[in-house]
Amino acid sequence: MRIDSLRFQLLVWLLLPLAGLVALNVWTSWRQARATADLVTDRTLDASARAIAEDVRFDRGAVDAIVPPVALEMFDTGHRDRVFYRVVTGDGRLLTGYPDLPEPASTLKEGVATHFAGSYRGEDMRFAALSYPVVGAPDGRRVVVVVGVTLAGHGAMLRELWVGGFGRQLILLVAVGVLVVIGLRRGLAPLMRLRDAVLDKRRDDLSPLPDAAVQSELRPLVQALNTYMGRVAGQMAAQRRFVANAAHQLRTPLALLATQVAFARRTQEPAERAEALGAAELSTRHLARLAAQLLVLSRVEPGGRRPRDERIDLGDSARMVLEGLADLAVERGIDLGLDVIAPAGTVGDGAMVREAIVNLVENALRYTPPGGRVTVAVDGAGAEAVLTVDDSGPGIAPQERERVFERFYRVPGTPGEGSGIGLSIVREVVDGMGGALVLGTAPEGGLRVEMRLPPAPP
Ligand SMILES: Nc1ncnc2c1ncn2[C@@H]1O[C@H](COP(=O)(O)OP(=O)(O)OP(=O)(O)O)[C@@H](O)[C@H]1O
Ligand SMILES: [Mg+2]
Repeated sequence: MRIDSLRFQLLVWLLLPLAGLVALNVWTSWRQARATADLVTDRTLDASARAIAEDVRFDRGAVDAIVPPVALEMFDTGHRDRVFYRVVTGDGRLLTGYPDLPEPASTLKEGVATHFAGSYRGEDMRFAALSYPVVGAPDGRRVVVVVGVTLAGHGAMLRELWVGGFGRQLILLVAVGVLVVIGLRRGLAPLMRLRDAVLDKRRDDLSPLPDAAVQSELRPLVQALNTYMGRVAGQMAAQRRFVANAAHQLRTPLALLATQVAFARRTQEPAERAEALGAAELSTRHLARLAAQLLVLSRVEPGGRRPRDERIDLGDSARMVLEGLADLAVERGIDLGLDVIAPAGTVGDGAMVREAIVNLVENALRYTPPGGRVTVAVDGAGAEAVLTVDDSGPGIAPQERERVFERFYRVPGTPGEGSGIGLSIVREVVDGMGGALVLGTAPEGGLRVEMRLPPAPP
């Protein structure tokens, strides 16, 4: 079991406080056991002192102490404790016993025993001292009895009282530990099964995990996992569709190319051969463009490129793009213009933004008939940085406006070679920057595409 495992941590959090509580309990029960043993010893000392004191007689004018055997026998608990006593008269004359027994620290009260601990002849002992009137003495004389006992019996009692309790606590702690381990094992079993299910090598189908067998706290996690896997499965399916589409898109012009080349090889007619080679060149260009568009699309997709946040001036970007497309505009006989109404700044990947603008302007140039006009406008005066591309071409019918963003979709009847990827690229770029893309109608009747991007912070 590792230190960072859930089971280990739960075990520590449960057992450490429990062990602390048990330790506290052991300590208090030890104090209690000692108090009980003290009490029992003191009572016996009391009884012994009283028995001795009661046997002190006044006989013909003299005080006489005879220690009754019972006063000493009561200490005979089988632990070989030794008993010492001393009886002195009120004025300090020793009647019997050991003269050097320790004295009580406090003054004695009449008829009430005083207890104290001390040592005598190198042994720790407990003592009781009692001041008691002499039986039969007319003048109210008193004797002071001190009785002391070694602590073997006291210690044995203390151990007996305490160790029993301690043993029970230890058994309790071990039992709780075992129960906790079993409980954790049982409680965590569904989690472990879930882990095994996730790790199962045979599960490559991203099908949902069963959530009925896990505890209610884990069910949201399983559901979140299932939602997540559903999303991944959806994305994988989309990816598969895309690859299949791309392969299909590549296959048609490739087949065409193969036919054209074969025809050029076969024919003896120079004019026919030149025509076939010209067609083959067109197919090759189409293929090259398709490959280039696919490459750009893979870069603008989320995760396709390290995110960048450079400051972008839309006017500068548009100018660069228009310079690159000037030849195409001349070739198509189209008047291409840039109108910077107000400088517009945004933040993102400059190369990708230029890629998006290229696709918009290329579309406008390619689908606007010769003699037309294409205008790119940049306006940063409002709350957003807006780039608009207007053309005087046929535009896109409203019912087609959502579909043209789909990959490989081209409006039926669209002339020229194209693969239907350009607007998907534009949408990926704009979505990635948190902007919006709006299709509308230009003042000259053609298509208006508005790219609205978040403004750069001042
Ligand atoms: N300015 C425009 N005027 C009219 N139709 C347009 C215009 N721009 C796009 N379209 C329509 O939207 C379709 C999708 O455009 P998109 O740029 O995604 O693909 P494409 O231009 O056909 O191919 P490519 O991937 O080579 O750009 C086009 O085929 C065309 O039908
Ligand atoms: Mg295009």
